[in-house]
Amino acid sequence: MRPFTFGQSTTPGYGELLEKIEILRSTLRWATRLEREEIQRLLGQCNALREDVMSLSRRERFVQSSAALEDLRAPPPEQAPTAEQRRAALLEREFTFDGVFGDNPKLLETLEIAEKAAPTDLPVLVRGESGTGKELLAKVVHTNGRRSQGPFVSVNCGAIPENLVESELFGHKKGAFTGAASDRKGKFESANLGTIFLDEIGELPLSGQVKLLRVLQSQEIQRVGSDSPIKIDARIVAATNRDLLAMVGTGQFREDLYYRLSVIEVTVPPLRERRDEIPLLIDFFCDAAAERLGRSPLRLSSRLRQFLLDYGFPGNIRELHNLIFRMSCLAGDTADLPHLPDALRSNPSSVRPSADAPLESEAPLSLSEVKKTAGDAAEKRFLEQGLREVNGRAVELARRQGMNRSHLQTLLKKHGLSAKAFRPKKA
Ligand SMILES: Nc1ncnc2c1ncn2[C@@H]1O[C@H](COP(=O)(O)OP(=O)(O)OP(=O)(O)O)[C@@H](O)[C@H]1O
Ligand SMILES: [Mg+2]
Repeated sequence: MRPFTFGQSTTPGYGELLEKIEILRSTLRWATRLEREEIQRLLGQCNALREDVMSLSRRERFVQSSAALEDLRAPPPEQAPTAEQRRAALLEREFTFDGVFGDNPKLLETLEIAEKAAPTDLPVLVRGESGTGKELLAKVVHTNGRRSQGPFVSVNCGAIPENLVESELFGHKKGAFTGAASDRKGKFESANLGTIFLDEIGELPLSGQVKLLRVLQSQEIQRVGSDSPIKIDARIVAATNRDLLAMVGTGQFREDLYYRLSVIEVTVPPLRERRDEIPLLIDFFCDAAAERLGRSPLRLSSRLRQFLLDYGFPGNIRELHNLIFRMSCLAGDTADLPHLPDALRSNPSSVRPSADAPLESEAPLSLSEVKKTAGDAAEKRFLEQGLREVNGRAVELARRQGMNRSHLQTLLKKHGLSAKAFRPKKA
């Protein structure tokens, strides 16, 4: 039995217990016949687990009752910290993050969970849409933990052909299959004493999932074509933009592997849910692009800045990153709407309707620039309204306004508007 002390308890936490239970569960699930000796061993594990649960619940009760006493004595609780205070606190704790973040509560929560998970060795599952920063977050877990000096090995599970999964992850011996010209280390061996990042885990074929599960349970690998097991000590962080639980429901993802990987689950919010970070990210990427391209940081015209503040960013932060790098390459000192890719300019549905929200944190403009910007914005709204009224028929709009058709086309082009986009959708 484990010693139980209140001061520096050796009792594991809930996460660790859950992990042990999952390991036991899947051992039992995959067992077809058990020898007496194996049953004894598993029973021993169950008893130890039971002991841990009892200790934990005793400790919880002790903590709860002492907290209740504290409550009676303590002054009324302080107000919950503001987002600004939470952000400052993260930075004060020397939290390492290779990007930029502001006061958005959703992102702060994500970073705080990652920070707490970092020093443990528990598996972490990072969820989020494409381009939201899942890999960056996986690095947060690695860099802020004990293994930061060890390797961080990233594997894109979606990019490995099914027949090469085993050799890619666990390595192979020379001659193990046609084309295996020499011994080769797999990703797990390369990640020893560090972190292995299993990106796009939802794309791993079922056969690969079984093999991965076995390795996670035994913490040892065998190179393809070899009989000798190799002990591996690698922390697992996985990421996905798919709904793994739904995939479990449809039999595309193994339930036991899901529970094994998702002891701590953390979600990176899409950019449209943290729009307040867009100005920060723009500045961050303008500086990064300037450094990379050896130029001065790009300035944005106010209408371009407004466009970016309103845009839906289906490709999330990666899309913003690519836009800024593209414009830093193509534009001179200041980028404007025409520097955006055509597809983006001609798709008004990608922009939120509040295009005339007040402008934030923009570079100071001269009076004539302010007038021109306001005039341009009014002209664009006028054209959009007109196109809506005539169901996207540019000829009709020109007729109503007594305007030359080709002049109207020039104006539409200038604002990146496509009359077609205003035609009613067919049922
Ligand atoms: N908060 C941030 N600050 C600065 N850059 C960021 C931030 N979040 C993400 N990025 C940048 O955005 C890009 C996409 O991030 P990342 O590769 O981590 O996303 P992902 O969720 O793994 O994407 P995918 O699902 O497409 O693989 C990277 O260039 C990354 O450096
Ligand atoms: Mg990624």
